[in-house]
Amino acid sequence: MDDLIFAKVDKYITDLLTPEDKALTDTLDSIEREGIPSISVSAPQGKFLQVMALACNAKKILELGTLAGYSTIWMARTLPQDGKIITVEFDEHHAAVAQKNIDNAGLSSRVDIRRGKALDILPQILTNGEGPFDLIFIDADKQPYKEYFEHALQLSRSGTIIICDNVVRNGEVVNENTTDDRVQGVQRLNKFLSTCNKVTATIIQTVGAKEYDGMAIAIVK
Ligand code: SAH
Ligand code: DHB
Ligand code: MG
Repeated sequence: MDDLIFAKVDKYITDLLTPEDKALTDTLDSIEREGIPSISVSAPQGKFLQVMALACNAKKILELGTLAGYSTIWMARTLPQDGKIITVEFDEHHAAVAQKNIDNAGLSSRVDIRRGKALDILPQILTNGEGPFDLIFIDADKQPYKEYFEHALQLSRSGTIIICDNVVRNGEVVNENTTDDRVQGVQRLNKFLSTCNKVTATIIQTVGAKEYDGMAIAIVK
């Protein structure tokens, strides 16, 4: 099997179940035009986040790592009028492009972009009493994933869904001798999940047009 089949099936799923409208394709265009890394979730993964948001009837969502707002748009679309997604981004350029894309998608009233480093913003969200969140999507830098997850637990209630992107990293996750600190970051998270008695969790491997990776999905007990 080669990656071509994964790309083909991704297209098949996208055409069938997860077509992108103009606001989403405009967002992908903005990533290319602005020289932003092309590391958004795929359309089927965006739809997966939507399905999860609907499964828990999400009114309050927290995202770490906005990039250009692609995953944000998928999730925000499930929110009721009085719902909110807080999305944290430390790169000013990414945040500015994301704000435009979110305005263009007509979602400004439901999306709150918080500019800053996630480890600085998370305690503020807790102190402000803005939790608990129904769904939390962790997709920022990989090194502090375990710390992000611990903060996410503090911002959760029983039944909160916590999803962490990129926890397989092309299979590198099984390499115990890896020197890549991003892989080490997800290894620390995955190990933590195995011993954390506050959640029921699994990891789903993901393939597609982009890379071979995976998402951890945890439900808070
Ligand atoms: N969720 C997005 C992709 C996020 S890519 C999507 O699927 O569409 C990761 C993003 O996290 C990048 O925009 C990067 O600038 C941001 N980021 C990296 N480290 C961060 C940190 N410490 N705090 C907040 N954002 C961070
Ligand atoms: C990278 C980050 C991501 O969130 C992703 O989905 C893919 C790649 C990265 O930093 O390389
Ligand atoms: Mg990611």
